[in-house]
Amino acid sequence: MPEPRTFRDEPVSFVRRSGRMSEAQERAFAELSAQYLIDVPRDVAWTSVHPDARLDPAERYGRAAALIVEVGSGQGHAIVAAASARPDTDFLAVEVFRAGLARTMLDADRAGVRNLRLVEANAPEVLSSFLPEAAADEAWVFFPDPWHKKRHTKRRLVRPGFGRIAGHALRDGGLLRLATDWEDYALQMREVLDAEPEFVRAFDGEWAERFDGRVMTAFERKGIAKGRDIRDLVYRRVDRG
Ligand SMILES: C[S@@+](CC[C@H](N)C(=O)[O-])C[C@H]1O[C@@H](n2cnc3c(N)ncnc32)[C@H](O)[C@@H]1O
Repeated sequence: MPEPRTFRDEPVSFVRRSGRMSEAQERAFAELSAQYLIDVPRDVAWTSVHPDARLDPAERYGRAAALIVEVGSGQGHAIVAAASARPDTDFLAVEVFRAGLARTMLDADRAGVRNLRLVEANAPEVLSSFLPEAAADEAWVFFPDPWHKKRHTKRRLVRPGFGRIAGHALRDGGLLRLATDWEDYALQMREVLDAEPEFVRAFDGEWAERFDGRVMTAFERKGIAKGRDIRDLVYRRVDRG
């Protein structure tokens, strides 16, 4: 299947990295996928989701519980720590970087985490159709690729229309939590989400407090080391009425 370049005629927010996986990662992928990785029916591209495919969370987790989705979960540090700390809540990691998914499964397995599943797919397709409407209690977007060059900003995940995409997956009153170390992207997130009819701000003042449910990942640490401010934002899904 081809590498994806667009979704609904807009550029996707990632370039697939071809980096080889280590032997341990290859093994983790082979051995742990049955436990953690959700099989996704594809459409036009390798990371796509067939528009008719639907996840049944109760079936996948073997219970009905609150669901938190992290898009662009990278190596999985934040979501594995959160899933370990909150066994009563179910977690879904969405990522296109296969070595990151392998690392996430290895760490989850070592920590004995059972309330976590992974999806290898383009996040907007997972949020807007693979997850049933209103299935998620929270959606997390932590340190998304900044695409900081002017000619690339159109590839950012949080751009006009993201409200409809994330708003589909979140229940009424559900929370969208975001963090970035790129000031310009933080401003774009706030401008975009302030204008989206599906969301209202859930913080006072300029920015939200740092979300204390997020462990520090390498991306946050690097931003701090470079002297950048870390910006947190949190938005609430408005009632569908
Ligand atoms: C800068 S990293 C941050 C990872 C992690 N959130 C952290 O804080 O360590 C962004 C991640 O988002 C993933 N990503 C970007 N666009 C994506 C998309 N459309 N669907 C799924 N994952 C995506 C990338 O592969 C990358 O691993």
